[in-house]
Amino acid sequence: MQVLCTTKELRHHIANFKAKNPNKTIGLVPTMGALHNGHLSLITQSKEQCDYTIVSIFVNPTQFAPNEDFDKYPRKQEADLNICQKADVDIVFMPEIAQMYPLDSTLQTTFNAPKNMANVLEGKTRPGHFDGVLQVVLKLFNLTQPTKAFFGQKDAQQLLIIQKMVEDLFLPVTIVPCPIIRTQDGLALSSRNAYLSENGKREALKISSALNAITKAIMQGIKDSKSLERIALEVLEGTEVEYLAIVDRELEALQSIKKDSTLVLIVARIEGVRLLDNLWF
Ligand code: PAF
Repeated sequence: MQVLCTTKELRHHIANFKAKNPNKTIGLVPTMGALHNGHLSLITQSKEQCDYTIVSIFVNPTQFAPNEDFDKYPRKQEADLNICQKADVDIVFMPEIAQMYPLDSTLQTTFNAPKNMANVLEGKTRPGHFDGVLQVVLKLFNLTQPTKAFFGQKDAQQLLIIQKMVEDLFLPVTIVPCPIIRTQDGLALSSRNAYLSENGKREALKISSALNAITKAIMQGIKDSKSLERIALEVLEGTEVEYLAIVDRELEALQSIKKDSTLVLIVARIEGVRLLDNLWF
């Protein structure tokens, strides 16, 4: 495994790799580090589907608002490299901020994610978040030129907006959505779970229980969104729910669920930590 820290080294490496292996496929797994089994599942998918796997580890400042946890975001460089090594990753790209953003933010080309998808749900409380995500993801795509890039379904809105960017800009990369990985008792894996106490982790289980209650209700034939929301909110009683939304793949609210085009999103705050979970139906 090679660890590259500069964009120059990475571009040079990719150019050489492509010249020597014109028919080989490259898989990119973009991450912000603090790797867990959720990330590992993305890496495994990339290893299965591509000849060469690149993992990027970069806590991207442009997707954090000034009041958010950029400084506090867990950074576990050594453990992350061990995980990548064990997973037989080919390249880890681990740049400093100045590598990805050599210029002051006012002197750079910036990005506007489509408003209808970016200003709702997560974007409502995190203005500019998806602009920053697209900015860094596009930079990573251009630097690594992947055949496929792997993203978790847990960050559902992010995944849909990245798919939209790829479609709108005709980017030559296939986005592979990967299922949510959970602890045995159901908590969706997230780097931010590290902030939770044992009690907090127990309370957080209400989120996946609420989604399970929705699945069960759907199986029993309930389709109306309001009824499904009521069922989930009963399970979440006593928990600070930021939003519970039943939407389609364009993130438009649905009155009633439709098979293969429904997304149920829950964001709740437990011990001050924002936790996301969702159900793709
Ligand atoms: O999902 C993440 O970890 C980040 O938003 C991403 C896609 C790596 C961009 O910084």
